Formats: sequence, C-alpha cells, structure tokens
Amino acid sequence: MTSTNLFKFIFLVSILVDTNCTSADDVNGTIVEIETGKIRGRISKSENGNDYYSFQEIPYAAKPTGENRFQLPKSPEPWSDILNATEGTKICYQFEPQLSSTVMSEDCLYLNVYTPQKPGSDNLLPVLFWIHGGGLQSGSSTLYGPKYFMDHGVVVVTINYRLGAFGFVGTDDGVIPPNLGLKDQLFAMQWVNRNIKAFSGNPEQVIIAGESAGSISVGYHLTGPWVDDKQIFHGAIMQSGSALADELKLENTTDAAFKMALAIDPTFSSQDTKELLKFLQSANATDIVNSGVSNGVALEKNGGLISEDAYPAYLKQSYKKVPVLIGFNSEEYLFFYRENETVLKQLDETPSKLIGTMINMSQENRTVAGNLLKQLYTNNTSFEENVGGYIRYGSDHMFITATCKQVELASPDVPHYFYQLSYKGEIAGNMTNTNTLPPGVGNVAHGEDLCYMWDLGSNSDLSQFPEQDGVMLHNIVKLWTNFVKYFDPTPEPVGNITWLPSEPSTLRYLNLNTTFEMLEHPRQYQQVKEVLETYMELPYRVFN
Ligand SMILES: *[C@@H]1O[C@H](CO)[C@@H](O)[C@H](O)[C@H]1NC(C)=O
Ligand SMILES: *[C@@H]1O[C@H](CO)[C@@H](O)[C@H](O)[C@H]1NC(C)=O
Ligand SMILES: *[C@@H]1O[C@H](CO)[C@@H](O)[C@H](O)[C@H]1NC(C)=O
Ligand SMILES: *[C@@H]1O[C@H](CO)[C@@H](O)[C@H](O)[C@H]1NC(C)=O
Ligand SMILES: *[C@@H]1O[C@H](CO)[C@@H](O)[C@H](O)[C@H]1NC(C)=O
Ligand SMILES: *[C@@H]1O[C@H](CO)[C@@H](O)[C@H](O)[C@H]1NC(C)=O
Ligand SMILES: *[C@@H]1O[C@H](CO)[C@@H](O)[C@H](O)[C@H]1NC(C)=O
Ligand SMILES: *[C@@H]1O[C@H](CO)[C@@H](O)[C@H](O)[C@H]1NC(C)=O
Ligand SMILES: *[C@@H]1O[C@H](CO)[C@@H](O)[C@H](O)[C@H]1NC(C)=O
Ligand SMILES: *[C@@H]1O[C@H](CO)[C@@H](O)[C@H](O)[C@H]1NC(C)=O
Ligand SMILES: *[C@@H]1O[C@H](CO)[C@@H](O)[C@H](O)[C@H]1NC(C)=O
Ligand SMILES: *[C@@H]1O[C@H](CO)[C@@H](O)[C@H](O)[C@H]1NC(C)=O
Repeated sequence: MTSTNLFKFIFLVSILVDTNCTSADDVNGTIVEIETGKIRGRISKSENGNDYYSFQEIPYAAKPTGENRFQLPKSPEPWSDILNATEGTKICYQFEPQLSSTVMSEDCLYLNVYTPQKPGSDNLLPVLFWIHGGGLQSGSSTLYGPKYFMDHGVVVVTINYRLGAFGFVGTDDGVIPPNLGLKDQLFAMQWVNRNIKAFSGNPEQVIIAGESAGSISVGYHLTGPWVDDKQIFHGAIMQSGSALADELKLENTTDAAFKMALAIDPTFSSQDTKELLKFLQSANATDIVNSGVSNGVALEKNGGLISEDAYPAYLKQSYKKVPVLIGFNSEEYLFFYRENETVLKQLDETPSKLIGTMINMSQENRTVAGNLLKQLYTNNTSFEENVGGYIRYGSDHMFITATCKQVELASPDVPHYFYQLSYKGEIAGNMTNTNTLPPGVGNVAHGEDLCYMWDLGSNSDLSQFPEQDGVMLHNIVKLWTNFVKYFDPTPEPVGNITWLPSEPSTLRYLNLNTTFEMLEHPRQYQQVKEVLETYMELPYRVFN
C-alpha cells in the first residue's frame, strides 16, 4: 500500500466506523481512555463466537514496592502513551513452589476488564467483579477466563490483591495498616465506580463475587463501614466461604508483624513499629514469603475497615442490604482431607477440639458440646470407624455452618438465593485425595464450582466432556448472569426450576444436580446449631 492509499484507507475507515473515535489506530474500538491515560486492549471470541473486548493488566494502584510496600494502595501515575493492555501476566508474590520468582511480582496491583459491548457505548451493562480464592495466600486474576460469561451481556472484572504477609500482616497503631489485601480489593471497586463506564459497564450495578477466600472477602465487604452507602456495589455472590466462620482470621496482627521481622533477622530487637516498617520495607521479598509466620484478617483497633467481626455485625443487622447469591459444594472438605489416623484418634479422645477456639465456651462445656457433635457426625461410633463423619464435620466447620447462619440471619431482610452444588462432572477433574469416598459423604469438593463458569484452560473445550457437563455449565452461567442482571437468577425458569429465595426457618435451597430441585434443611445444620447455641457464651465472634 502506498502512503497515499494508506491515508485514504485510514480516512475511509475512520469515517465509516464511529465519529467518536479520534484515533485511526482504534478501528476496532480497542483503545479506551481511563482516568490515568489510554490503554489498548484486544478483541477475543466468546464461546458462541461473538467478539468481546479484553483489557488486561490495567494498573489500578501504584506499585506497592519500596516505600509503598506495607502501605495503603495509592493511585497510579498517569501515562501519556497508549498502554498495552493486551496480556495478563502479573501474579502477586506468593508461596507457591510451582511458580518461579520471575513470574511472581510484588508489582501486581492490576485488574482485567472484559466487555461484550463496544467500549464507549451508551448501553451500559451490569458488572461482575471477581475476587479470586486461594486462602489469601495464592491465586491470580488472570487464571479466570471470561469466555462463557461473554455471551450474556455482562461486563466482567477480575482483580489481583496483595497476598499472604504482603496483604495480611499489620500493626494495631496503623503504621502498617492491617488487611491491606482487603483494602486493595476496595480500591479496585472504587476504580470500577469511576472508570467502568468507559468500558460500557454500569457503575450503578456492580455485583461483587468470589470463591473461597474471595467469598470470605465479599463477606467482609458486606459488613464494611459503607453498609449504608448506596454506591460501591449493589449485589454479592458468595461461593464456598462466609466471614461468619473463624476461617482466615488472625488474632494478633502486631505480634505477627514483629515475629516476621524476627524470623527474617533474629537480631532484630526494636519494639518500635516505625522501625519495624522500615525494616520490613527493605527486607527481601522471598524472605517475607518464607518467614512462615501466620497472617490473615485482623480486627482493626482504630475504627478501620474491619472494626467488628462479621457474626456480631449480622446479629445486629449491621450489613449492606443487597441481594446475595450464596452457597456451597456438597463435600467441600474432600479438597483438604488427608488420611491421618492420629487426627481421628485425637478427636475421638478429645472431642472438645471440635469446638473452635474463637468461640467462648467453658472447658467443661467444650467437652459436653464436643461430645454431642461427635455423636452427631459419627452416628454414635467414633471418627476412626466413621471417616465420613470426620469429612462432613470438616466441610461444615470450615464453610457450611457459617454460610447457613448468614442465610438464616439475613434472609428475612434481603433476598438470599441459596444453593448446594452436588453435580459431579468430569469437567471438574479430580479434586480429592481419596480413591473411594467413605459412605455418607457428598462428592463435590471445594473449588469444583469454578469449572462450571470460568474458562480455566482445562475446560476450554466442552466437546471433551460429557454433554451433561456442558448443560450444567450453561445453566449455572445463566443463573449467575441472571442474578447479575436482574438480581434474580430465574426471572424465567432455568433447568426447569424457579429458584426461590431462602428463608430462616427452612433454609430453602436449590440443589444443583443432574436435575435441579428446591430442598430444605441443608445437611445437619439444625442439630449443629442447637449444640453451639446451647453452650456458646458472649461475646459472640464466630459461628462455626
Ligand atoms: C481489528 O480486528 C480484526 C479482527 O479481530 C483484526 O484482524 C485486525 O488486525 C484488527 N485491527 C486493528 C487495527 O487492531
Ligand atoms: C503495543 O502493542 C502494539 C500493537 O500490538 C505494538 O505495535 C507496540 O509495539 C506495543 N507497545 C509496547 C510498548 O509494547
Ligand atoms: C499482641 O501481641 C503483642 C506482642 O506480642 C502484645 O504486646 C499484645 O498484648 C497482644 N495483643 C493482644 C490483643 O493480645
Ligand atoms: C532474595 O533472596 C533470594 C533467596 O534467598 C535470593 O535468591 C535473591 O537473590 C534475593 N533477592 C535480593 C533482591 O536480594
Ligand atoms: C497426622 O496428624 C498429626 C497431628 O496433627 C501430625 O503431627 C502428623 O504429622 C500427621 N501425619 C501425617 C502423615 O501427615
Ligand atoms: C466468656 O464467658 C464467660 C462467662 O460468661 C465470661 O466471664 C468471660 O468474660 C467471657 N470471655 C471473654 C473473652 O469475654
Ligand atoms: C446409625 O446407626 C444405627 C444403628 O446404630 C443404624 O441403624 C443407622 O442406619 C445409622 N445411620 C447412619 C446414617 O449411618
Ligand atoms: C446417640 O446416642 C444418644 C444417647 O443415646 C442419642 O440421644 C442420640 O440420638 C444418638 N445419636 C445418633 C446420631 O444416633
Ligand atoms: C484422584 O487423585 C488421588 C490422589 O492423587 C488418587 O488417589 C485417586 O485415585 C484419584 N481418583 C481418580 C478418580 O482418579
Ligand atoms: C446427585 O445425583 C447423583 C446422580 O444421580 C446421586 O447419586 C446423588 O446422590 C445426588 N446428590 C444429591 C446431594 O442430590
Ligand atoms: C428439564 O426438562 C427437560 C424435559 O423434560 C429435561 O430433558 C431436562 O433434563 C430438564 N433439566 C433439568 C436441569 O432438570
Ligand atoms: C454450661 O452450659 C450450660 C447450658 O448453657 C450453662 O447453664 C452452664 O452455666 C455452663 N457451664 C459453664 C461452666 O460455663
């Protein structure tokens, strides 16, 4: 093409396309201007072969390195060129032996936006905002491909947030603000509020969603200080995790921060938090990750983001009153279970260990209540004889009891669409460590739900799996995106079912199996609840 012809071509294209497009570069609508500058995305194909617009690795915060390490997220510097947002590669620093340190980076506060609507359109679509799981220790936003969602008229945002010690160790005086990972998530939500219109997303309809630690994070945002704020987000999806459980909590974050310094340098002897910050800001990132000191969500002394545990907040109805889609898989603990007779023996000898340490109960009553739970789960035998009972206890204790309590407390005020995933598909691969399932346990492990909505690579080609798996995936994506669009998963039946919201006396839920069915009274929740409520004493912090 001669330069004259090229000029004509560009001129023609730019008048044919859209007078709003100022750049001939942007024939495909893949250049978007956000508050900090222009970015270039790319066009991808949805499952049904429709175009969608993909923008990856958009910086939503400044690099949390150097002076920004262990500090609140800050706005990124603007840029003047067009930033390529065509690839997602950044993974937050984490303890993950499979990942080399060249792949992981502390410079990881990026998000991805995927939209089936041409950016700049006036037709704004609802937004699904995804917080990944991984115990707050691992995972990454770019593992979650949006291909299956893109045929359903929603914008999808997936985010990274600081993990492990970088995101979940702090000091009570705020010199190192606690819960930085959750604050990164909030910072990203606020970024969406300000910028998502440029991607044809509707900032007035943002549904935050997550699985496992991502779900627990959503739970903390539901009880954050903005419960009465109409902005930020407008609905929630919680898959396998509730903030009402003791899961992922850290009792003494200041203690953890000083212990971390000591683990890195045994001669560190200062008691001063400013010196601690200075030391940790200059420490080797690998040493921080490898320090082995525990981390997690901490209560904040100075009226910060997490000023109260979620269970008491729910008890006094202090949570954001938005519709919630929430549920669990039929045997979550299969993902964590490892055969170990010692563990079973210890529980048989000391059933008080079945009661979590964050529950206030006298030692005497721990033994009484622990014995009742043991009888319940083992059918009056022992865990050694009834491993299935141990697995069911594990699923309930880590995830399901707290989830049921949340639905029980909140469903009178705001719709809670409650589900159990009990469909076992080949598409979910092998998530368990056991050859044969003990009798009495369900068979869908923690994490399997992800395979029915995200393109995880392993499930990109549905033709490799039984047809029924694809049917299940399409039904689940339909239910989830209906909720994002209408705050109702079944404005019309899906899989022949109308999903009714739950209610406290029956905890009505949708059982997602080969056929869909509305059921009541999940698992042994009523009996577990009776035991806990009889013996636990104020102050109430957790329910699991
Ligand atoms: C526009 O999109 C088409 C198809 O996706 C692609 O072949 C072409 O290279 C794109 N053009 C630009 C300028 O990005
Ligand atoms: C950005 O992407 C464009 C188009 O693919 C390419 O020509 C350009 O070199 C890239 N810029 C950078 C800085 O990587
Ligand atoms: C936390 O740990 C620090 C240092 O070990 C200790 O001084 C402080 O009393 C602890 N705080 C609580 C609430 O236990
Ligand atoms: C950090 O420690 C690791 C492992 O000990 C080492 O390989 C790396 O070079 C160190 N990095 C820096 C910046 O010192
Ligand atoms: C079994 O559990 C005990 C007690 O928690 C632990 O000390 C031991 O290392 C475990 N054994 C194996 C093989 O994992
Ligand atoms: C636990 O309950 C007992 C008995 O009601 C009470 O005396 C005690 O203060 C409570 N523990 C805490 C940590 O508040
Ligand atoms: C519980 O044990 C009784 C006998 O002790 C037995 O009849 C019953 O089938 C058992 N229930 C389950 C669920 O295993
Ligand atoms: C276990 O035995 C106790 C005492 O006999 C009884 O009250 C309870 O119902 C039994 N539990 C189960 C699950 O069979
Ligand atoms: C699943 O993996 C576990 C552990 O690797 C193995 O023991 C089991 O046989 C596998 N199950 C299936 C159905 O492949
Ligand atoms: C799910 O369906 C399978 C196959 O029909 C069945 O074996 C299993 O018991 C069902 N589970 C639940 C909890 O509905
Ligand atoms: C819905 O009904 C159709 C026709 O009876 C049946 O083929 C299909 O399996 C049902 N779907 C579900 C999810 O129950
Ligand atoms: C044990 O629980 C019972 C029933 O709630 C209560 O009456 C009793 O005071 C508790 N005992 C102790 C030592 O806390």
